[in-house]
Amino acid sequence: MKKRPHSTPLATNKHLLRWVEKMADLCKPAAIHWVDGSKEEFDALCAQMVAAGTFTQLNQKLWPGCFYARSDPTDVARVEERTFICSLSKDAAGPTNNWVNPFDMRKKLRGLFDGCMAGRTMYVLPFSMGPIGSPMSQIGVELTDSPYVVVNMRIMARIGLPVFKEIDKAEKRVVPCLHTVGAPLQPGQADVPWPCNPEKYIVHFPETREIWSYGSGYGGNALLGKKCFALRIASNMARDEGWMAEHMLILGVEDPRGEKTYVAAAFPSACGKTNFAMMIPPASFQRKGWKVWTVGDDIAWIKPDADGRLHAINPEAGFFGVAPGTSAKTNPNAMAALAKNTIFTNVALTPEGGVWWEGMTDEPPARCLDWQGREWTPEVARTTGAKAAHPNARFTAPASQCPTIDPDWENPGGVPISAIIFGGRRATTMPLVYQAFNWSTGVYMGATMGSEMTAAAAGTIGKVRRDPMAMLPFCGYHMGDYFRHWIKMQRRIKETPRVFHVNWFRKAADGSFLWPGFSENMRVLKWIVDRARGRALGRETPIGWVPRYEDIDWTGLDYPRERFEELQHFDHNLWRAELMGHEELFLDLHDHLPKEMIYERELLICRM
Ligand code: OXD
Ligand code: MN
Repeated sequence: MKKRPHSTPLATNKHLLRWVEKMADLCKPAAIHWVDGSKEEFDALCAQMVAAGTFTQLNQKLWPGCFYARSDPTDVARVEERTFICSLSKDAAGPTNNWVNPFDMRKKLRGLFDGCMAGRTMYVLPFSMGPIGSPMSQIGVELTDSPYVVVNMRIMARIGLPVFKEIDKAEKRVVPCLHTVGAPLQPGQADVPWPCNPEKYIVHFPETREIWSYGSGYGGNALLGKKCFALRIASNMARDEGWMAEHMLILGVEDPRGEKTYVAAAFPSACGKTNFAMMIPPASFQRKGWKVWTVGDDIAWIKPDADGRLHAINPEAGFFGVAPGTSAKTNPNAMAALAKNTIFTNVALTPEGGVWWEGMTDEPPARCLDWQGREWTPEVARTTGAKAAHPNARFTAPASQCPTIDPDWENPGGVPISAIIFGGRRATTMPLVYQAFNWSTGVYMGATMGSEMTAAAAGTIGKVRRDPMAMLPFCGYHMGDYFRHWIKMQRRIKETPRVFHVNWFRKAADGSFLWPGFSENMRVLKWIVDRARGRALGRETPIGWVPRYEDIDWTGLDYPRERFEELQHFDHNLWRAELMGHEELFLDLHDHLPKEMIYERELLICRM
């Protein structure tokens, strides 16, 4: 009998071979495909998905190398309520995670996965999070029945033959990741463009470092290197091994002397992380020689080097960015990154074979097909409020295509981190910027950070959700223990990064934003960098160090001193309420809360 192409194992590691065999016995796929990661393989999978109706090839003159997919309308985002941390004890997962006893969960999953890939191909997809061979990188193998996942992972991670080589060297533990869309095909049964299952399970076993994902083909539910591995499992590895896996962008600021200062920043979703990571300084700053370089927009793995200085890598190789709101005005670098070789999911399709989403241009197209393939016009939008693109529509674009990608973004040793920035969306209370007094005040600052919910549901608008270090949906263990890990990291670091908090979203009494944001954030970033390098002054307040009006470089912007004072104003009453919010979070975590957090809160109260 003729062997199917790609069915020959591309690795010799016997543990891997045995695991693939075992999982194939369970999932019962019609074929096995060992992913070599080549361009030819990528092209063939895309052509196969075009034929199946999953992909539409975009107009190659307008969008070279780009494809378009529409998901099932029930499979459009991460499913936090179906995400589980199945540690041996419930206590280890903590109150902020869903937990099920791992023995019960394994039983459940074995039932669900039995025969789940019938009629489909199981892809054996090896991937490296971080540059291949870097001491800071980690390796996983995802077994998936979704070719969409394979081609997206080829952009988001390093995959294929070089990774199998690493596995064969057997120097690093491999994280096994099993994924199915949960839609087996009976003989003769026709497939649908976006197979998935209404029942979904995104399951992590922290002790055995395993991921099992069932029922979804979308984003973080299915591209298992991203949130599941690089944050939930990696946060467990990091705690055990003395490093940090964080939901942070990484950028480098080049100053007029040509010196570069790298910072990492954590903001909850929908607070402009990708825009900040790719910021273009105002013209007046550019003229002086300031430039921002991008290392990553979502995840940072941070580790002390031999000299005790924190270094960070971006474990990803691409951007899985939210399309709506991204434009040549808000983020020209992202627009350049996604101009070619990009996969678009759930945006709108224009009659010329291009893509469009809300906020991409001032003028919408006269007509297009919306993210569900329905006829859409601006008139339809006016009368029904229908969006052309789903609010969580995404682009999957290679990081290397970003014009400001840092020359050191793939440095195996990472880049040195001088400052950590926390931030959120806050209409009141939080000043534009302030600096923590020291590491443990900084940890308290990150632990208590919050952001206003933007969902238009009644009663929720403006409500502050505590999202410690922007890790609420991503920390793979007890949040109180996670704070302790942050505190303990200080002992491993010779020079702690300075810690800051920013808020671009404070509003005036009339409801208008006090701060213009976007490029102008460079003025704040300059103060942060100057503080981290010990070359800027500030003023002490109960919450930390703040810049005075004269400490900010205002060239090219007419920003009145009184407005700045309003933006930076410390309001006693609002901070009292803020402290109550901290207490609420701490009550939930009390039995694992490090005492430093309690002391920091007491000290803050005393200073106030
Ligand atoms: C993301 C998220 O997709 O944080 O990056 O939700
Ligand atoms: Mn994210």
